[in-house]
Amino acid sequence: MISRTTIDQVFETARVEEVIGDFVQLKKSGSNYKGLSPFTDERTPSFMVSPVKQIWKDFSSGKGGNAVAFLMEHEHFTYPEAIKYLAKKYNIEIEETEQTAEQKLEADKRESLYLVNEFARDYFKTTLKDSQQGKAVAMTYFKERGFSLETIEKFQLGYNDDRWDGFTREALKQGYQMSFLEETGLTIVKGDRQFDRFRSRVIFPIHSMSGRVLGFGGRTLSTDKQLAKYLNSLESEVYHKSKILYGINFAKQGIAKEDNCYLVEGYTDVIQMHQRGLTNVVASSGTALTPEQIRLVNRLTKNMTLLFDGDDAGIRASLRGVDLILEQGMNVRICTFPQGEDPDSFARNNSLDALLDYLAANTTDFINFKASLLAKDAADNPIKKSETVRDMVQSIAKIPDHIKQEVYLKECARIMDISQEVLFSTLAQILRKNRNDAQRTPEVSAPRLDVIQKPKTEPKVDVQHSLERKIIELLLLYGGFEQEFVETVIESDESGTLGHKSVLQSALVYQKIYLDLQEDEIEFTHPEFQDLFYRIIEAYHQNPELKIDGFLQDLPHELSAQVTHILMDEEKHQLHQWDRKLIFVKEKKEGVAQIVAETILNLRRHLVTKKIDELSVQFKEASSTEHSEETLQAVTDYIGLKKVLSEKLNRVL
Ligand code: CTP
Ligand code: MN
Repeated sequence: MISRTTIDQVFETARVEEVIGDFVQLKKSGSNYKGLSPFTDERTPSFMVSPVKQIWKDFSSGKGGNAVAFLMEHEHFTYPEAIKYLAKKYNIEIEETEQTAEQKLEADKRESLYLVNEFARDYFKTTLKDSQQGKAVAMTYFKERGFSLETIEKFQLGYNDDRWDGFTREALKQGYQMSFLEETGLTIVKGDRQFDRFRSRVIFPIHSMSGRVLGFGGRTLSTDKQLAKYLNSLESEVYHKSKILYGINFAKQGIAKEDNCYLVEGYTDVIQMHQRGLTNVVASSGTALTPEQIRLVNRLTKNMTLLFDGDDAGIRASLRGVDLILEQGMNVRICTFPQGEDPDSFARNNSLDALLDYLAANTTDFINFKASLLAKDAADNPIKKSETVRDMVQSIAKIPDHIKQEVYLKECARIMDISQEVLFSTLAQILRKNRNDAQRTPEVSAPRLDVIQKPKTEPKVDVQHSLERKIIELLLLYGGFEQEFVETVIESDESGTLGHKSVLQSALVYQKIYLDLQEDEIEFTHPEFQDLFYRIIEAYHQNPELKIDGFLQDLPHELSAQVTHILMDEEKHQLHQWDRKLIFVKEKKEGVAQIVAETILNLRRHLVTKKIDELSVQFKEASSTEHSEETLQAVTDYIGLKKVLSEKLNRVL
């Protein structure tokens, strides 16, 4: 674990505008910076960075947060990865908190395996570029495949020659331990002999999401059928074949940006597609797709498109992957290449535009794809047809979203020309069966009981929500400001009669809000606002000169995201350059007292209105009982109060 001190130091040192500036071109705009959203393809900048508040907000995608949140969104780092990245950028030494001896050993070991792999990658790269064999044989091979030097560099491709132990000897000479060389599988130990695993092979390093080298694939250049075409690294603590997608570190940004991930089979398919300019492509490396691999993509997008070779005999087998993807609530589409072509050859032989056109024209969702498979097989064979329909409904049953399920079922009914009722009952039957199966194996989570739900109605505009949010916004922006508020005080004149009088009283904004709400015993109805409210009041109480960035840093993740959204929405008007268009933007500081008073009054009036509505319903229901009298009185009182509040509001406005 990274120590709290290191985390604090990182937060104190890192400047959000500098961190983001490494990825996005930022231009100064007033007290903020703005730029083009790195999450969408836009032409007019809607991405804002506030150096004062140390936060950012992307108005086109709605994302926002602090420097760490940016790295997590943009680079898809985990929290510790983001902290480590920043520590490195700002030369902060990372202090780890106490680990058990066992944990430490394990972490050290994993790190050693990475280091060995990274040494090997560099060694293979050098061998490709500098050795006689590398230049003559391997480089020629890559060129023949159409890989540019830039591509070779980007994918860190390499080569190992045909000596038995060239790599192993060099690694030992450099001080790498035999045990790690053996564990990664880079060196094979037989008795007292040691030799390189990858010999006479071109090397494809395989990376993690964050770009560390997990292992390698090595392709033989020989046509000898006896030799395996590819050799891969051994399963180890850093290389788990089932959890790896080749190319994910190069594709992650493209996937998030395009909101779609193309899945191909092999290393060369990925590389060729990237070189052609399609960067949201990853490979399952020849194995059947696993849930872990899908989960890697699920962090980046909900859409996957499977690309199949034209003459793929294994399509039916690969279709199992479809159900796994559906199970994770993702959308699956499928595209097949023309006879004799695979993604590699198609990308090599066509322009980017032609490739994109082809994909656009030939991609279908899984229902249509399954239907077209049947059409090829035996469209007028009723047994085949019913098998296919069952197969489709089985896939539909995997979809967790009921509405989507219904949509697909209707589509299936249409394509296969079968009544919806039959399909719905088939689905119910399958779900019942799944449920029974699941009950027999208790570790599987219980499937739902209902089959199809009606879509939920659209939420109405929530007045209470927006007022509560407004109060939080005012507290965050102006909580520490001293303002003059109009207060009503009760006074007696010389004759002793009591009267109301309005006076100006000076107070800090947070005190005014706190006291007014307390007076009416108003509680926020949205728990996250209530939580924030207490935290903000407490923070101002400790120090009225509250610094927002420090405050943000100590909040739990959801709350700090809330705060960021609230704060950055307030900056939005800057984006529209209203001042340039000569539209008057109200200078808020001048009228803070008024806005505060207005918001509190609005909230009170809203609550009173709600109360009146509730009581009116009660009154109608209880009209013949003895309570009706009391209820009527209460309603009348509240209506009176509402009138007073409305008058006050009019006066402030
Ligand atoms: N694969 C593997 N081991 C093998 C064969 C294949 O790990 N013995 C994996 C590799 O990740 C390979 C993928 O399956 O990239 C697809 O296999 P294939 O289509 O045979 O390889 P290509 O990458 O297309 O290689 P090439 O075009 O050079 O034949
Ligand atoms: Mn191939």
